[in-house]
Amino acid sequence: MTASKKLFIKTYGCQMNVYDSERMAEALGGQGYVETNSADDADMILLNTCHIREKAAEKIYSELGRFKGLKAAKQDLKIGVAGCVAQAEGAEIIRRQPMVDLVVGPQSYHRLPEMEAKIRTGEKALDTDFPEEDKFEKLKNRPKTARGPTAFLTVQEGCDKFCAFCVVPYTRGVEVSRPVDRVLAEAQNLVERGVREITLLGQNVNAYHGAGPDSDWTLAQLIWGLEKVDGLERIRFTTSHPNDMSDDLIAAHGDCAKLMPYLHLPVQSGSDKILKRMNRSHTAESYLKVIERIRAARPDILLSGDFIVGFPEETEEDFQATLDLIEEVRYGTAYSFKYSTRPGTPAAERAQIDPDVASERLQRLQALLTQQQHQIQDEMIGRDVSVLIERTGRLPGQMVGKSEYLHSVHIQDAEAQIGDIKQVRIISSSTNSLAGQIIS
Ligand code: SAH
Ligand code: SF4
Ligand code: F3S
Repeated sequence: MTASKKLFIKTYGCQMNVYDSERMAEALGGQGYVETNSADDADMILLNTCHIREKAAEKIYSELGRFKGLKAAKQDLKIGVAGCVAQAEGAEIIRRQPMVDLVVGPQSYHRLPEMEAKIRTGEKALDTDFPEEDKFEKLKNRPKTARGPTAFLTVQEGCDKFCAFCVVPYTRGVEVSRPVDRVLAEAQNLVERGVREITLLGQNVNAYHGAGPDSDWTLAQLIWGLEKVDGLERIRFTTSHPNDMSDDLIAAHGDCAKLMPYLHLPVQSGSDKILKRMNRSHTAESYLKVIERIRAARPDILLSGDFIVGFPEETEEDFQATLDLIEEVRYGTAYSFKYSTRPGTPAAERAQIDPDVASERLQRLQALLTQQQHQIQDEMIGRDVSVLIERTGRLPGQMVGKSEYLHSVHIQDAEAQIGDIKQVRIISSSTNSLAGQIIS
């Protein structure tokens, strides 16, 4: 029997890449690879990359540079680039970094076994197709990796919205939903392997419209379908677009006990002028209306968002409108970015604003978001939450899990086990987490 080869995968970008990395490990498992968490003893290194901002993409080239020594020391070490940089740059990656053996886009990684065989013969392998066949179906019978209590499950991929700043429609392709029966079967399989919480993933997950038993199902219908899966305790989904928050999905936040009270709903800007130039097809007011309806259905929901500052033509007044919107919403957590010019997107052609002005705005915006986050965390003190224990903490006897609101909660309890759901009283709040005591 041949000794197993070692695979080191490093994942950048969104949760979808995390999910894809697991699938790639499974695909290569069939070729005798087992995962390692050290690049030093790997026989193959795969970088699963993100192209969303310039820095993210450039980081890949510097990371590749770091592997030069390893490759020189180990002639048969293979290096691959997967994900959105692979899709966007294709053969250019091998031109810039000739030591790269393999480039595979996010829609073709089920072909990794054939590609691996090809690079073993010393050839290069490149595949950035958007193939007809369903990669998830091709991979479904691969032995699955061991699981913790939480898992991602991709239900929708790609995007047809073409926001003027964004590469996703180009790197991930058109919007496609997976059929209901496949999603339910995968969920069932995850639960059988000990998963208690599933986060449904999609670049526009709330636009989900997968083929169901007699007609296409909405995301809300899918959530109700998952609610019936015994042993599955918690359902989440991300990321959503404000325009696709349908009535049934809003209602599910009030009615579906397994759907957690947390919603990531990016707005990007609070200025209608900028939203229009971003091609977001919603206004600040229509966004606030959606928030109001969600809060009517589920008053304690924790909201999170994404913001871009310094988009072309953003004035101080436009920026102020974003701060005003943030004040009005009160976000429990948020992600904010300085606009990054992405070649090939419409906004890249426009006059860019002064980067120092953008940096200064980002600082002000982040100060406000951090203040809100801390206020909302402080308000949790004294409240009882349920915590799904995910891992051990750094201190002896410490366990760490997530509340319904996705807050990280640290507890000191020798009895608690990974995978338990415990009732916990929150006793304190620190920078990015809460601490609590088990009450039952
Ligand atoms: N599909 C999701 C998120 C896509 S990317 C959505 O529509 O919300 C995640 C976030 O990255 C975006 O919400 C946006 O805030 C940010 N982003 C995307 N392109 C960017 C760019 N060119 N510059 C800076 N931030 C960007
Ligand atoms: Fe990008 Fe906009 Fe699509 Fe989100 S909705 S993935 S920001 S194009
Ligand atoms: Fe990045 Fe691709 Fe996700 S560009 S954010 S890894 S879809």
